[in-house]
Amino acid sequence: MTFQIKNNVYWVGIKDWELQKFHGNEYSTDHSTTYNSYLIKEEKIVLIDTVWMPFSKEFVKNLAKEIDLNKIDYIIANHGEIDHSGALPELMALIPDTPIYCTKNGVDVLKGHYHKDWNFHTVKTGDTLDIGNGKVLVFVEMRMLHWPDSMATYLTQDNILFSNDAFGQHYVNDLMYNDLVDQDLLWQECIKYYANILTPFSALVDKKIKEVLELKIPIDIIATSHGVIWRDNPIQIIQKYIEWSKDYQENQITVIYDTMWNGTRRMAEAISEGMRKTNPTIKIQLLNAAKFDKNDILTEVFKSKAILVGSPTIGRGILSSMAEIMEMIKGLGFKNKKAASFGCYGWSGESVKELNILLEKSKFELLNDGIRAKWNPDDESLEKCIEFGKGIGSQLI
Ligand code: FEO
Repeated sequence: MTFQIKNNVYWVGIKDWELQKFHGNEYSTDHSTTYNSYLIKEEKIVLIDTVWMPFSKEFVKNLAKEIDLNKIDYIIANHGEIDHSGALPELMALIPDTPIYCTKNGVDVLKGHYHKDWNFHTVKTGDTLDIGNGKVLVFVEMRMLHWPDSMATYLTQDNILFSNDAFGQHYVNDLMYNDLVDQDLLWQECIKYYANILTPFSALVDKKIKEVLELKIPIDIIATSHGVIWRDNPIQIIQKYIEWSKDYQENQITVIYDTMWNGTRRMAEAISEGMRKTNPTIKIQLLNAAKFDKNDILTEVFKSKAILVGSPTIGRGILSSMAEIMEMIKGLGFKNKKAASFGCYGWSGESVKELNILLEKSKFELLNDGIRAKWNPDDESLEKCIEFGKGIGSQLI
């Protein structure tokens, strides 16, 4: 099903109602996703982005109902990742000479994935493409937001910014507009998307948004490549991105742990009790890394001023769920956050030392050397955990 967004601009994407994992298995999509593609029918016919490869045939079939494919004058590839370029091989087999506009890096990405020498036209920030009826497409490179080839395209007169991944979220809803969907779900998916995908590039987000705002172009609609189309006060998501890009944190500490026989869990709870005593207003979020969704945990880390990480010692190291989340934390390159570690042990007790090494590798500032409890913590050990928590709580006021 396609629909009109404004004047001669149509959504021609795919709603993927069933998707539960994205980027292989790295990103949980509890509310599925959409692959937004747009068709502009001015004097020139323009297609902006396509969809993920498994939907190629469905996409091309739907598109052919909307427009004679041979009438497409230009294809804009804002981003070469497979979820947006995946239908190009199917489409280009039918219209092989149609020019594809993308960045120089975009050519590299598209050739790297599809090994085709399509009719590429490279563009850079400020380049324009006249599409008739007084309307022009203006290209803005969005390098590393979130791939080297990423680009946004702005349509004059209709004032639509086709932002691709930026400002998107993995959230499918039949209504498709930001003012019509569940606001709590929408914003939860937005912050999860930012935390899990854009955190490493926050410095660039801030710089690029300033650059776009300095152009002083009116933006009536932000048409992203995933999730809703921002038509009601679209600037609100830009403002959120500015806020999130500045080493964002709330008054929150997240305690991430895994446990074998509940000893490390009891430590987590005792430490939290201590933190609460000296810091009555801070939000404390306890999450078992083996039981909770990793991307949701990372979203909580994003919101936190500090994290506590706990694991019992197993073999000479830490539990695998903790190793996994620590690897994900390292990859996101969080800045300006504090941390400490804890864990039970029986004899050698390497886990706390190992967690500290991982925290330092992830550039977290260690608040102390951590705390260990031998075997199952008794009342005395738990009292030490409470004292340990009190110290951390007071350090985070
Ligand atoms: Fe939605 Fe970077 O692809």
